[in-house]
Amino acid sequence: MMRARNGPETWGLVSRALHWLMAAGLLAMLPFGLWLARTQPSLGTLWLYGLHKSLGVMLLVLVLLRLVWHRLSPPPVMLSEGVAPWQLRLAATSHRALYALMLAVPLAGWSASSATGIDTVLFGRWTLPRIAPVSEAWDRRGFALHLWLSVALAVLVAIHVAGALWRHWGHRDATLRRMLGWA
Ligand code: HEM
Ligand code: HEM
Repeated sequence: MMRARNGPETWGLVSRALHWLMAAGLLAMLPFGLWLARTQPSLGTLWLYGLHKSLGVMLLVLVLLRLVWHRLSPPPVMLSEGVAPWQLRLAATSHRALYALMLAVPLAGWSASSATGIDTVLFGRWTLPRIAPVSEAWDRRGFALHLWLSVALAVLVAIHVAGALWRHWGHRDATLRRMLGWA
């Protein structure tokens, strides 16, 4: 029942855990980041920047693991009975775009952070390399990019969630249940 690998019609434990862990993490990181950017940095809030960066890099690692896992254990085919072709195309395209943004958002945050000249230190322990030159222009543009990619991510997530809820309550198929592991 509780299989690790994906089946032809089911999501395994690994994919489900990655999906929900990342969903929770990303949904928390969006307001967290907005709050950080609107707060005057001070010694008292410095650790929160460190926490945001550390969690963000963890999410980057998780999405890489997720992409590797897709190769090792391909996802089940989308349920399509009675669903309009444009909706299936929208779902497939938005899944690809969500992946692109799950990669691009933390990479933009990391490169913008690199440009500030302040080290990115994971959980106060591991210093990551700089992936952009220290420069005020990179810093400014990098954080602007980090913001706008995050906005795009939030919009796509809203569409994605609307689609999932529609499948559940409107179309009444097993799409949401099988991602929850209830089908
Ligand atoms: C998927 C993960 C991430 C999400 C969803 C996320 C989201 C956000 C958002 C929405 C903002 C507000 C931007 C603004 O209003 O200007 C922000 C700010 C920030 N992010 Fe991220 N972020 C992520 C990962 C990262 C990573 C990996 C780093 C660095 C290594 C980082 C560093 C920062 C910093 C330093 C700020 C504050 C910018 C400022 O004070 O202007 N973020 N983040
Ligand atoms: C930040 C939040 C989220 C992101 C980035 C995200 C991303 C994704 C991606 C990329 C897929 C494609 C399959 C995969 O690679 O795992 C997927 C599948 C799915 N997501 Fe999300 N998701 C998020 C939140 C949610 C939420 C809150 C719900 C429920 C209301 C949900 C419901 C589903 C369902 C039901 C599937 C399975 C689709 C299928 O069986 O074909 N997701 N999600």
